Amino acid sequence: MSERKQHWQEVWTTKSPEAVSWHQDDPTLSLELIRAAGLRKDAAIIDVGGGASVLVDRLLERGYVHVAVLDIAEAALRQSAERLGPMGDDVTWIESDVLDWKPVPGLFDLWHDRAVFHFLRDPAEQAAYVELMRTALGPEATVIIAAFAPDGPDRCSGLPTARHDLASLSALLGAEFRLMDDRREAHVTPGGKIQNFVWCRFLRQ
Ligand SMILES: C[S@@+](CC[C@H](N)C(=O)[O-])C[C@H]1O[C@@H](n2cnc3c(N)ncnc32)[C@H](O)[C@@H]1O
Repeated sequence: MSERKQHWQEVWTTKSPEAVSWHQDDPTLSLELIRAAGLRKDAAIIDVGGGASVLVDRLLERGYVHVAVLDIAEAALRQSAERLGPMGDDVTWIESDVLDWKPVPGLFDLWHDRAVFHFLRDPAEQAAYVELMRTALGPEATVIIAAFAPDGPDRCSGLPTARHDLASLSALLGAEFRLMDDRREAHVTPGGKIQNFVWCRFLRQ
């Protein structure tokens, strides 16, 4: 097992999902930006590094029928699947390091990543992530990424993080992805700390 997988598997087996710093009762901004993408209900959506987020629950409730959640930690996916019960049978659960994943080319219409990309600090890994994203997405797909902002934390879950702004995310994704929308968010952790995030919605041209 890789060190990265071991780390996250341990997090998800030792901490309650409501206690982790990134916990949200409701993924408000994710849903707002997904709605803005104007997808059909049969669009294929993937939540990359979805953890135990309730985003998948909210998407199913809104009638999206092709939802996938990818995470490196089996324990995170299991928590979400157990929470959903029989509804979870309709979700595609993918246990993989995103960098090792071999997606079906062009399958997805929307890529959502909240607080995952910023763990990749090595430029080669960042480039590999973007290349994989390009492969997984169709020609007019949407990308929603939320990452720590320049005045956000430089660590999370004991790991160092990169920090991003509109310019760095746009440059990393390349000219093929046009910035359509952005937000700043002051996320309040369950412990009451503020974490500043930048959110971007891109459309593939
Ligand atoms: C900070 S949490 C965010 C979880 C979720 N996106 C949310 O907003 O609640 C980061 C998540 O990414 C997963 N993760 C970290 N590195 C990963 C990688 N290289 N590939 C896939 N998943 C990864 C972790 O297991 C964890 O669930």
